[in-house]
Amino acid sequence: MSLRTDGIFEPRFYTLPCRVGESIWLRPFGDVHRDAPHHAAHEWQSWLKRVTRDSRPAWYFGMGDYCDFMRAHTRALVAHAEIEAENVQDRLNEGGKRTVEELAEELRPLSKRIIGLLGGNHWMELVFRKKGETTRVHSDKHLANLLDVEYLGTQSHLVLTLDDGKAGKRAEVKLIIHHGAGGGGTIGGGLNRVIRMLNGWHASIGLMGDNHQRGIVPVGSQLDSRLVAGRAVVVDSVRFVGRTGSFYCGYEPGLPSYVVDKAFEPSNIGTIEIELALRKHPRTGLHYVAIGGYQPA
Ligand SMILES: [Fe+2]
Ligand SMILES: [Fe+2]
Repeated sequence: MSLRTDGIFEPRFYTLPCRVGESIWLRPFGDVHRDAPHHAAHEWQSWLKRVTRDSRPAWYFGMGDYCDFMRAHTRALVAHAEIEAENVQDRLNEGGKRTVEELAEELRPLSKRIIGLLGGNHWMELVFRKKGETTRVHSDKHLANLLDVEYLGTQSHLVLTLDDGKAGKRAEVKLIIHHGAGGGGTIGGGLNRVIRMLNGWHASIGLMGDNHQRGIVPVGSQLDSRLVAGRAVVVDSVRFVGRTGSFYCGYEPGLPSYVVDKAFEPSNIGTIEIELALRKHPRTGLHYVAIGGYQPA
């Protein structure tokens, strides 16, 4: 069976410091395709510069397709190549490692704030030989290893607790994130696919990358009844879905691309951002996380 991605699911739990009345920001990034001739290098470098200078408390996670490398059919061809092709495979392997190392250096200033990295469908198996022992590592996992951050597989349920540090002053928000599958060419189709995923989970935010669209929108509230000091109150939680953008520019004069070949919609270059505010509800007295989502310029 050959999968598009590695097909791994990982739930993860993190506690993030945040004062009541203040906010933290989540900055998912992905579909960088850094070694593709179509990589939007200018926009990628300017995003890196902007976010490293931004003093707001932000946490990052990767959505996959950091490198262009290979899709499933190419990986299958390379895996079944004849033994004479060993030299070619060695060169692919060395080139692959170099690309991952270069990207790791670019991301290093953010590494302490990276929650983890999802794997995409553009990847390759990197081969490491040491003292007669051979190990094979997924290139996205290798990137996570170099940055000393967690590898999250293809899909992750992120349980984030915003914690003020004082007893009881904390609240939880859950995300379900996946590198991405399907969604067609329209933003409505792309977001509907994320709604379908979100419906299967206890989560307030559903995110996918992969189709290079960019946008995050609220998709309605869920109401809940609580008893607070003997009084019935209704609390609402808003749910958001998003596609996380890309740094891949398919339409470049003279450069062949599968995007042109299939007349795909152009990518929306850049990222989305999510604001998480830890607040005390004025009517219920309960602590909760208020969510905002937007597409920065
Ligand atoms: Fe991609
Ligand atoms: Fe992808």
